[in-house]
Amino acid sequence: MDLNNLLKIIQTRRSVRVYKTGKVTDQQLELILEAARWAPSGANTQPWEFVVTRDREKMKRIRQIYDSEWRQRKREDPVHYKGLKKDYVGDVSVIILVCGDARTKQVYLTTRQTADREKLFQASIANAVQQMMLAAASMNLGTVWVSVREEVEAELRELFKVPASLRLLWVVPIGHARSWPPAKPRRKLSAFTHVEVYDSKKLRKEVDIRAWPKS
Ligand SMILES: Cc1cc2nc3c(=O)[nH]c(=O)nc-3n(C[C@H](O)[C@H](O)[C@H](O)COP(=O)(O)O)c2cc1C
Repeated sequence: MDLNNLLKIIQTRRSVRVYKTGKVTDQQLELILEAARWAPSGANTQPWEFVVTRDREKMKRIRQIYDSEWRQRKREDPVHYKGLKKDYVGDVSVIILVCGDARTKQVYLTTRQTADREKLFQASIANAVQQMMLAAASMNLGTVWVSVREEVEAELRELFKVPASLRLLWVVPIGHARSWPPAKPRRKLSAFTHVEVYDSKKLRKEVDIRAWPKS
């Protein structure tokens, strides 16, 4: 066990949005999925299901799906829409579609509220995604967490034959970074850590939250 190495991997991981050619080997892919397998999950439900593709045609189609969403949103609001053009989504060695089986929520016997069950469900799958990303980063492979919005979901579902009973949550491309991006700014530990009780002097103003740099 070496905390320094772990912290180094955590601090080195980036959202990679420009990839170069180069294979993610089957062995690397298996290690990435193995890292996901060990993620903690609510009541150990392990609600994740991953659809893995290396198919160039499907990747091309994913790019088109995200591209038409981007164009549509830009047409609707050319001034304010600042969404990233997600060309990187389909330009990689491997793509993992992150799905979840929401029926596992039944196992949260002591959790009665729907919203609380949803928190457990999504947090569990997010843990698996994070572990995959760290495993990939430890092998110098880039990843990025890509949202699946309603506008793209139906087409992605059809392309990958995701059953209606599963939730389609995120897409994670994995590949070799063209260059490793610089670190995005992080809040200071003292800004979000509160000792014993919440320090309301640290509560951010709306204006600070809106101004927070995203890049
Ligand atoms: C839940 C979640 C959804 C995200 N969705 C997207 C996305 O749709 N497209 C994208 O390019 N990045 C997405 N990201 C990546 C974030 O923008 C990124 O993690 C953040 O800016 C910090 O940068 P870093 O990952 O390089 O440290 C998402 C991250 C998370 C955790």
